Amino acid sequence: MGLTVGLLYNLGKYDPPEEGEPPDIHAELDSEKTVLAIADALRWGGHEVIFIEADQNAYTTLRHSKIDVAFNVAEGLRGESRESHVPAVLELLGIPYTGSNVLSLAMSLDKPMAKRVFAYHRIPTAKFEVIELDQEPSRGNLRFPLFVKPAREGSSIGVSTSSVVTNARQLREQVGLIHRYYRQAALVEEFLDGREFTVGLMGNHDHHFFPITEINYDACPTGRAPVYDYEFKRDWDADHYYMMPAPLTEGERDRLCQLALAAFKAMQCADVGRVDIRLDRNGMPHVIEINPLPGLAPGFSDLPRMADAEGMSYNQLINGILDAALERNGILAPAMAQAAATA
Ligand SMILES: Nc1ncnc2c1ncn2[C@@H]1O[C@H](COP(=O)(O)OP(=O)(O)OP(=O)(O)O)[C@@H](O)[C@H]1O
Ligand SMILES: [Mg+2]
Repeated sequence: MGLTVGLLYNLGKYDPPEEGEPPDIHAELDSEKTVLAIADALRWGGHEVIFIEADQNAYTTLRHSKIDVAFNVAEGLRGESRESHVPAVLELLGIPYTGSNVLSLAMSLDKPMAKRVFAYHRIPTAKFEVIELDQEPSRGNLRFPLFVKPAREGSSIGVSTSSVVTNARQLREQVGLIHRYYRQAALVEEFLDGREFTVGLMGNHDHHFFPITEINYDACPTGRAPVYDYEFKRDWDADHYYMMPAPLTEGERDRLCQLALAAFKAMQCADVGRVDIRLDRNGMPHVIEINPLPGLAPGFSDLPRMADAEGMSYNQLINGILDAALERNGILAPAMAQAAATA
């Protein structure tokens, strides 16, 4: 017998966009299909699964549940630190969980804060300004073209080809849109116009790097700004829109992996993560952002596709994440504990 694993998630369908909200506002929440696939994978690993919707009742449910460990994919329902709500409750109750902790999740969701941490660690990241809700757009010392996005979102929410702005009028419009639609500060960055990669990693020492993915902008219609946005992910999921593994020399590959690992460590992430990296016009890689709760939609999200590209099944990926968390917490799955005791 394996462990009893509490699977914590937020289902998208429970929270449709409210009136006046943009259609992608809940794009980060998981589908029922993904949650069931994760549960199946955990059962494949020999574990029992208890489903726990991470809503306002989660604390009471968790208090009375007898789970050994939580598998956390909950993106949170509301608030600036929503991704860290579940880990905070789990910590309060003394329940170990997969993935990054309260601080890492809160910092990485706040992109300007993550960029300040990167800068402290001398990890290259695009120059930026933050335009708060009550502030007038200004480009400060930044040079056009610029990229404008919400300061605290993921899953491409608030990102589109119009996020690239080349003059003061467009900048004003885009910042206004972020303020109005997403009711939060706008992050204005210098636009990195080179190749784009995403680097997935798993584990807490001797990290496992998945095959690096390159976004193949050459496959997109000519004239379309090179932005990996919601439209791209939704409409262009065929294989030729991605290069997996990316065509890189061994040296380039190592450089991107080391950069991703540096970002992972700087943010004190655990077990799993995905780091988005883009080259500037001089070919110098910069970290765009880190995703400590990477999407796990089978056959769709970047990480499961990367795992698949190297022959790692979805079941192995999910159990790899769980095993990293168990090892980090000094927990042996019962089968392993029995083997250790009789050795
Ligand atoms: N400074 C930048 N320069 C160039 N492109 C950028 C920049 N910032 C963001 N992008 C583009 O926008 C995309 C989405 O940005 P980002 O990764 O910050 O958003 P996200 O919504 O958190 O993404 P995810 O879907 O990975 O959670 C990037 O993959 C990249 O194509
Ligand atoms: Mg991203």
